Amino acid sequence: MEGSSGPLGLKPPKSRTLETNRGWLTRTLGLGYGRGISGLKFPEKDPILTFEGMFPEGEEEGGEEEIMVRGWMQKAEVTSGLSPLELTDQEFSRLSKLVYETCGINLHRGKRELLRARLSKRIRELGFGSFGDYYRYLCSDPTGQELIKMLDHITTNLSRFFREEAHFKFLEEEFYPGFKEQVARGVRGPRLRIWSAACATGEEPYSIVMHAMMNLSSIPELDLRVLATDISTRALEKASKGIYSMEKISEVPQELRRRFFLKGTGPWDGTMKVKREVRQRVVFQRHNLLDPAPLDEDVDIVFCRNVLIYFDRETQRRVLERVVEPLVRGGYLLVGHAESINGAISNLRYIKPAIYRKL
Ligand SMILES: C[S@@+](CC[C@H](N)C(=O)[O-])C[C@H]1O[C@@H](n2cnc3c(N)ncnc32)[C@H](O)[C@@H]1O
Repeated sequence: MEGSSGPLGLKPPKSRTLETNRGWLTRTLGLGYGRGISGLKFPEKDPILTFEGMFPEGEEEGGEEEIMVRGWMQKAEVTSGLSPLELTDQEFSRLSKLVYETCGINLHRGKRELLRARLSKRIRELGFGSFGDYYRYLCSDPTGQELIKMLDHITTNLSRFFREEAHFKFLEEEFYPGFKEQVARGVRGPRLRIWSAACATGEEPYSIVMHAMMNLSSIPELDLRVLATDISTRALEKASKGIYSMEKISEVPQELRRRFFLKGTGPWDGTMKVKREVRQRVVFQRHNLLDPAPLDEDVDIVFCRNVLIYFDRETQRRVLERVVEPLVRGGYLLVGHAESINGAISNLRYIKPAIYRKL
């Protein structure tokens, strides 16, 4: 999308370019929620009690299913005593076109209620009385900030630690043994680069790091970095904090929980925070998958999971080309098990369900 205009000449906000991302593994990011490998924003020793004021309020996602979103919206409407906002056919088609052109998410007719539910709250917050007024505001906002906010509301950022176990099993049983052997033979260095494209609230990149640290502990000089990107600033903010509810953490095997998390106390009771040794291996950055890959180094593995389902076939193809581009030859692309990409682009070889290799 970079450099292109949306409807009414509205220019979408620029995502960081290849140029600005040069050296992403070593520099501090300047987007507020980002954190470089050095220059961490978190306190040195991770004292849980100093979290005060850093934990965003009321930002838990409603849920993946439309039905849940509807339930949440109705509840909000009842509590606020406000009647639901009307969404006309024209407003729906204008907004869904804007979303599609900006980030590729395909809001077909069946998603109308979801769009209405997710944006009504934002529209009321801003004090507008209709979707039409909001659309005009969106298109006339020269900063592009409202577009970013709108996408925060539209996107579904649901994720889980160690989601789709088969991928972690593949890494453990096939990729890491080969990697270790090559490092031992001196065929390659201990450098491992992974891109978690569409990382949502961070569970995926943190799982990757914890899992790699466990499996590659025999390589003391392991140089592991994960670039974690998403279009949602709200999701990235949560991700970079690395603080999760106990319920979320229950997805993490106990051994890893003990080793890689700190337990919250006082105001942080009921939460756990990812330890610095894990967080510092992850760089979070806002990136639109429609744009060229935001890095200029080769990566060994790309996780692009559970995001392609939001795109139509043509957008999937375009996104796949973008995400495969920085992969080394022989590197792996992991997609969600519900996402079929067979034949979408020619330089990928099917290995097993949801696992592809770059030719
Ligand atoms: C359901 S989550 C998947 C999270 C994680 N990969 C997983 O499998 O658990 C989908 C994510 O894709 C992101 N997304 C949607 N469209 C995007 C785009 N055009 N560019 C980057 N991220 C996008 C959303 O913000 C959301 O966080």
